[in-house]
Amino acid sequence: MTQVIVALDVGAIQREEDLLKSLKDAIIWYKVGLRLFTAHGKRAVDLVRRHGGKVFLDLKLHDIPQTVAHAVHEAQRLGADAVSIHLMGGPDMIAAAASVSPRPRLWGVTVLTSMSPKDVRIFHPGARVPTLVKSLAKSGWMHGADATICSAREVAYLRRQLPHLDMRFVTPGIRPKGAALNDQVRVMTPGEAAALGIDFIVVGRPITHAPDPRKAALDILAEMKASSPRSLETA
Ligand code: C5P
Repeated sequence: MTQVIVALDVGAIQREEDLLKSLKDAIIWYKVGLRLFTAHGKRAVDLVRRHGGKVFLDLKLHDIPQTVAHAVHEAQRLGADAVSIHLMGGPDMIAAAASVSPRPRLWGVTVLTSMSPKDVRIFHPGARVPTLVKSLAKSGWMHGADATICSAREVAYLRRQLPHLDMRFVTPGIRPKGAALNDQVRVMTPGEAAALGIDFIVVGRPITHAPDPRKAALDILAEMKASSPRSLETA
């Protein structure tokens, strides 16, 4: 079943706490990303845990293998339930991160959706974004990452291209029908994501900027529940 991760993209700890109180028991997973973690560190993680939530520490680690492995170890000590890495860090880096035991779930970013085809060609001449996404997702799967972070619009493509890999997916860029797109371009609704069997959707502003965040979250959960799973052939 698809689960919702609420992206706590806020700068103030009080705002984080208000959201956690408002979403209590409706949402289990919360994303602590670069902004909140740089501003408040362990305090931001502890707050989620004190409210009974699970933490996705979205730091997108990318460094030499040993450094990333140490950071994954520290993320475990911090109490993170999942941590992200850049799959572009290479097979050795992914494998080193995956070899840490115990460790949080390891979720691998393919190509940032903010990167244009022109950007990608700067460091991979001739590369096409979908091909690169596929290679990175495959590398993540082969070297021990537990899930692929990518656009929801890429999930059906990856399943078609890599039919033998039982890949899990974590996808941002989710917008309920009629919601503001903000800076997201290629979006998918929560219902469509649930029908595709995506494991986790990351939702920020449609919940955190809503006049009533709890109602916005419950509406999203209801929409997901109502959508029936679709077969891979029709996806
Ligand atoms: O507010 P919104 O729902 O757009 O937030 C989505 C979250 O997912 C943000 O924390 C954003 O940084 C993250 N994200 C994204 N697109 C990516 C990777 C991460 O929107 N390709």
